[in-house]
Amino acid sequence: MRRNKVTVIGAGNVGATVAQRIAEAGLADVVLVDIVEGLPQGKGLDLAEAAPVVGHDARVVGTNDYADSAGSDVVVVTSGLARQPGMSRDDLLAKNAGIVRSVVEQAVHHSPNAILVIVTNPLDAMCHVALQASGFPRERVIGMAGVLDSARFRTFIAEELGVSVEDTHAFVLGGHGDTMVPLPRYSTVAGIPITELLPPDRVAALVERTAHGGAEIVALLKTGSAFYAPAAATFEMVDAILRDRKRVLPCAVLLQGEYGVDGLFVGVPVVLGAGGMERVIQIKLSADEQRAFQRSAAAVRELVDKLPA
Ligand SMILES: NC(=O)c1ccc[n+]([C@@H]2O[C@H](COP(=O)([O-])OP(=O)(O)OC[C@H]3O[C@@H](n4cnc5c(N)ncnc54)[C@H](O)[C@@H]3O)[C@@H](O)[C@H]2O)c1
Repeated sequence: MRRNKVTVIGAGNVGATVAQRIAEAGLADVVLVDIVEGLPQGKGLDLAEAAPVVGHDARVVGTNDYADSAGSDVVVVTSGLARQPGMSRDDLLAKNAGIVRSVVEQAVHHSPNAILVIVTNPLDAMCHVALQASGFPRERVIGMAGVLDSARFRTFIAEELGVSVEDTHAFVLGGHGDTMVPLPRYSTVAGIPITELLPPDRVAALVERTAHGGAEIVALLKTGSAFYAPAAATFEMVDAILRDRKRVLPCAVLLQGEYGVDGLFVGVPVVLGAGGMERVIQIKLSADEQRAFQRSAAAVRELVDKLPA
């Protein structure tokens, strides 16, 4: 049986960690691509040399040549720049849009049937760029954000209540980061809504910490941003796709009327399986939740409108 093949573009912190998780789980062979010469080759070789100790047979190679990525089942896009001092958000948007467009065009040329998992920020806007650059249907362009945001929320809920993370579930909608819309009434511990387990001020504090979860880590690290949890979240999505697990996970997908939004990538719960995004799960929102969702969608729209044509 042919082993699955995953290409991870960007051999930086997130990309290399995703590659490690995929290989060490024996999920797929991994091709690590970066623009910097030697970097993906070095990290790829290092990961390959861990295989005998870890005990897996997945092949890991690093390259600067997209021809090596040919026939990939999934392409994960993590390439991009972090915001530099003096660089505005709009500068970053334009720079990363250029990078994502170029890497997606090259990758899909060699892997026309792949499913794209986008990680590069600003996430929701980069999904638009990837959709356009690939010409793929919406089912095959999926953004990673909600799994990370809800993992952070779950971590804080479990810590607050002194319970296992395994028994916590969190429900997060909307754009990534500041504009996310956590839904506490659907966030549960062993099926019990957290609104019945915690007073409103504590729920609000956990929601607030979750929305700024990325910034909290940036402030601690001083250089660079989070990558262990982002890589774990990306792995969960790739695993759901390659093993056709039909997992219900919050992902950024192109909405076509669902939740009253048309033509925008926004985070919603979807079924992830071999077909990529197989179904959007719709739930009824309260008036307040719907307003927060619309605000989040409007923030995504604002960024998308600024994308270079
Ligand atoms: N969606 C999320 O929730 C989430 C979470 C964490 C990080 N991110 C984003 O993921 C991206 C990567 O983060 P990181 O910490 O790994 O950054 P990093 O700087 O460690 O790695 C980025 C890599 O991209 C490479 N790169 C740049 N231009 C390229 C090109 N044209 N072709 C190929 N490779 C190119 C760089 O050489 C570098 O190795 C950032 O945009 C970050 O904001 C998103």
